[in-house]
Amino acid sequence: MKNFDYLIMDDVSKEAAAIDSGWETGPVFRAAQEDRMKVKYVIATHGHYDHVETLGELSGMFGAQTVAHESSELSTDIRVRGGDELKIGVASIRVIHTPGHTRDSICLFDGKNLFTGDTLFIGNCGRTDLPGGSTIELFQSLHSVLMLLPGDAIIYPGHDYGEVPSRTMAEEMKTNPTLLARDLNEFMGVE
Ligand SMILES: [Fe+2]
Repeated sequence: MKNFDYLIMDDVSKEAAAIDSGWETGPVFRAAQEDRMKVKYVIATHGHYDHVETLGELSGMFGAQTVAHESSELSTDIRVRGGDELKIGVASIRVIHTPGHTRDSICLFDGKNLFTGDTLFIGNCGRTDLPGGSTIELFQSLHSVLMLLPGDAIIYPGHDYGEVPSRTMAEEMKTNPTLLARDLNEFMGVE
């Protein structure tokens, strides 16, 4: 299913967070060890199993706290809502609530890097036909929330579905048909 898991680290303190933990913990754990990361949080972008199947296992390996949106059905150590900030060393990661793919979908933004889970992919967006999905909410999350972020924000999606693994918001707004749609009707017509 081409899931991406991510590790982000503050270079000075080596404090870090993992974003999503789908299928395997080994590669993520080894990568964190190689860079001597102190992983504080394991954050779920949303509750779908391919993103959180090993969330508890990975947080146990790191001695980290699990994090999910307050509406999540997951049981996590920390519940967050839109606007909350998670501190990693001197860095702050802002939680952006972006319902649509699921009710509990969040994106994470550190001022430069934007982790979008299944809300926004390179060249497409997440599906809305699963429980908790809403096409109207996803349209609003993309067009009234994410597209207002700086154009140089680099999108890191939850799956490797695009022609490149990541791209800037400005580039994506020129090419992604779900962002180019001028209104909800056009958005609903995108394949
Ligand atoms: Fe998903």
